[in-house]
Amino acid sequence: MFMSDVLYEKRGHTAIITFNKTADLNALSEDFLQKIGEAVDLVEQDEEVYTLILTGAGKAFIAGADIKEMYEKDADSIMVWSSLGSGLNLRLENLKIPVIAAINGYALGGGLELAMACDIRIASEKAKMGLPEVSLGVICGAGGTQRLPRIVGEAVAKEMIFTGKKVNAEEALSIGLVNRVVPPEKLMDTALELAAAIERNGQIAVGTAKAAINFSGTSDLEEGCLFEREIFSKLFETEDQKIGMGSFLRKEKDFKFKN
Ligand code: HXC
Repeated sequence: MFMSDVLYEKRGHTAIITFNKTADLNALSEDFLQKIGEAVDLVEQDEEVYTLILTGAGKAFIAGADIKEMYEKDADSIMVWSSLGSGLNLRLENLKIPVIAAINGYALGGGLELAMACDIRIASEKAKMGLPEVSLGVICGAGGTQRLPRIVGEAVAKEMIFTGKKVNAEEALSIGLVNRVVPPEKLMDTALELAAAIERNGQIAVGTAKAAINFSGTSDLEEGCLFEREIFSKLFETEDQKIGMGSFLRKEKDFKFKN
């Protein structure tokens, strides 16, 4: 399916959203954010989609919020953009299915904020990432100051945010900002292989694992373990649990989960 600046396609159980506003490096305008949101609607409405891959066309994943559009804004009107950006990122983070960012090039400012709301980040060797907002006289407004320290630790996050410097793919790997780095031509195949490896498993279990891991970011250990135990036990009401464990006991290798 083609939605002007945002491409949406499905390959088996994998949905792919490609940011395709290459003239301004996929800068996040309000209109573009709405369109990305509409593509995410398609993902949410389709129970046959088990994983989502986000990537960019051209030399950027997303080079940040649209600076032209933001320049004229005041404190009230920027809140609209910020709520849209934050809201989209929270939506991606809370989607029931795993979301993979395949970072093809620049992921700056709001672009890195969006990538950080994804569950797994794979970077092309060409990728460059950073939160350069202080160089524009502002700070992140879509979760960057909150997610970066959770991913890479506070000291590294402070250095990146205070300096606004860009890190390349290898540096991003060394600080844990991305899961792996691959040559540009292998980026989509790697993301699709990862998606396929996830899709072989019980999808209710995968979604439950995502919810449990996300909960760990906002809870103390005791609360988290309690939450895990509760949703772990609910999985024993699913057919997938009987299929997965029964197939192991019967030594059947070739089985499919119900999902
Ligand atoms: C609007 C942008 C843009 C942006 C690039 N462009 N980034 N337009 N907003 N964030 C436009 C350029 O103006 C240019 O348009 C075209 O895209 C190509 O960009 P160039 O700069 O010519 O490309 P290049 O020399 O290769 O440099 C690439 C770049 C640079 C290093 C990524 O474009 C850059 O620094 N962009 C800004 C990155 C940034 O500061 N991002 C953070 C934004 S603030 P023309 O018309 O000249 O061809 C943010 C805050 C979030 O995200 C706050 C949330 C509320």
